[in-house]
Amino acid sequence: MKKLLVAAAAFAAVGALALSGCSARTDTGSSNAPAGFAAGATIGVALPDKTSENWVLAGQLFTDGLTTAGFKPDVQYAPASNTVAEQQNQITSMVTNGAKVIIIGAKDGSQLSSQVEAAQAAGVTVIAYDRLILNTKAVDYYLAFDNFKVGQLQGQALLDGLAAKYPSKKKYNIELFSGSPDDNNAGVFFNGAMSVLQPKIDDGTLTVVSGQKAVAQTATQGWLAANAQSRMDTLLAGNYQGVDLDGVLSPNDTLARAIIESVRSAGKPIPVVTGQDSEVQSVKSIMAGEQYMTIYKDTRSLVEAAVAMVKELQAGSAISEINDTKSYDNGVKVVPSYLLAPVVVTKANAVTAYANNPALEAAAKG
Ligand code: BGC
Repeated sequence: MKKLLVAAAAFAAVGALALSGCSARTDTGSSNAPAGFAAGATIGVALPDKTSENWVLAGQLFTDGLTTAGFKPDVQYAPASNTVAEQQNQITSMVTNGAKVIIIGAKDGSQLSSQVEAAQAAGVTVIAYDRLILNTKAVDYYLAFDNFKVGQLQGQALLDGLAAKYPSKKKYNIELFSGSPDDNNAGVFFNGAMSVLQPKIDDGTLTVVSGQKAVAQTATQGWLAANAQSRMDTLLAGNYQGVDLDGVLSPNDTLARAIIESVRSAGKPIPVVTGQDSEVQSVKSIMAGEQYMTIYKDTRSLVEAAVAMVKELQAGSAISEINDTKSYDNGVKVVPSYLLAPVVVTKANAVTAYANNPALEAAAKG
């Protein structure tokens, strides 16, 4: 397996380390298998927000999946204000309420050490879901799509989209966007994309006209569409009077649509814009020839893997949902991970890519 070590999360306190690619599933063995706990136990699920469809879907799927498996789900979203402190409180109360496992989609993965350490000390298994929890030993497992790979796929798709849309051009003007600085994934996505784009910036194929190439300059606080839209407005007004904008690296679908909206309002042609999450509106936009691509990270598979892990923890058996024990270093430990493979979706393969998902398949068929 090709291993590529990359410093991720340039703006996180301690950068996580990500390796691209997933290895074959390997059982970590039963030597560390926990003793198990009562069937029907409470399982906490702490989710960061509802700014993307995947988080909304995850909440429902966890409630249903854990209930079907006989557990008592305690699914909580961090509220929009005082979010980090509120998520910390939610995790603490899950421990107090007797949760045996807590699955966490961190609002800010660098701010949960005390809470997860207290949870582990109380015998709770801590699973980082989608976003790694940083700078603490008290994370037992990490379940996610391979987020560095997501960034690589976005970078490559941007290049492919530019070549396809502008066959007569050899050089392209682009702008770069990244996600929220408090989300460790934002840096992982950006570094994955830049591993593909930087050589093309260096050889002059790509020009970032604004000059804003550092991750901090490209950040979108809170992953909020309004913040991406206003940054795009400013970039267009300051750099693209009489200049073509050919492509935009957008880290997810919500921001991609905001960027497209900004370009449309400025009266300019829509550039090649990347995305992620396969949100219904973006799938429709792709089929209408606007947004160029998205990434399919099937939330159902990730939640299923999490629920399967909870079942094994309950039974005290070996954990089989681990296929990577080297890639995700949270600053103080390499967290045993189960990484799923993300899939690139463009207009060309959407119907096939979503064949297993009726809602998305319907959006792709229009
Ligand atoms: C997730 C993305 C999502 C973003 C904003 C990231 O941590 O991995 O799928 O688009 O958060 O919610």
